[in-house]
Amino acid sequence: MIDPRKIVVEGYDGIAREYLELVKSMESIVRSKYLNMLVNLLSPGATILELGCGAGVPMTRRLVDEGFEVTGVDISREQLALAEKNVPEAMLILGDMTELEFNDSSFDAVTAFYSITHIPRIDHPNLITSIYKLLKPGGILLANLGKGDLPDTIESDWLGKPMFFSHYDADTSEEMIRKTGLEIIRADDEPEMEYDHPVCFRWFVARKPGNNPRIPGGTRN
Ligand SMILES: C[S@@+](CC[C@H](N)C(=O)[O-])C[C@H]1O[C@@H](n2cnc3c(N)ncnc32)[C@H](O)[C@@H]1O
Repeated sequence: MIDPRKIVVEGYDGIAREYLELVKSMESIVRSKYLNMLVNLLSPGATILELGCGAGVPMTRRLVDEGFEVTGVDISREQLALAEKNVPEAMLILGDMTELEFNDSSFDAVTAFYSITHIPRIDHPNLITSIYKLLKPGGILLANLGKGDLPDTIESDWLGKPMFFSHYDADTSEEMIRKTGLEIIRADDEPEMEYDHPVCFRWFVARKPGNNPRIPGGTRN
């Protein structure tokens, strides 16, 4: 019986430094595009929950620099230790994003960059529902999910360690997001290079109905 979380924790604990160097060395056109989109949607002081924040670079760092109040959650102790150095201003929590204990309507935005694909897909619907609940009315979800259909899979050598991946095809994920009540603003497939090979994720920007003073465009209900 495989334990996906154990594989992910051991993997990221083992490769935290290599992953950080890799991210720093990669062109981050897609990351920047969506970060800019989020920054333009939110007003300074907005509260953001980042799921799977990793070492905090470049995403958490940029969000803090833009004047947002960021809470980062990651399941890997080593990743979080790096984040503590890279983004000491953020509130950083060691934990599993599928077991969060925040009050409902706590955040203006929830982000998940390259992290939900490490969660067994059977848990994705509950995770998206919990994100919906954590968002304030008018709040924004920004996340990338897998493109193709990928049942629970262990890659034996991902930056030198076994790594777990799992996702539904992107249309199924899109429907899952819609079903929670979130309104999809963008759902775009974005091909990019992951070190030496091409990958493609579907990037979602979605909004919880309602008004939010920190999100000027979020007035639909
Ligand atoms: C590919 S890295 C992405 C890190 C960062 N978001 C970025 O954009 O570079 C995925 C991160 O998700 C974290 N992660 C995976 N499963 C998680 C879970 N169940 N709960 C919290 N974090 C998780 C991993 O530890 C890892 O740091």
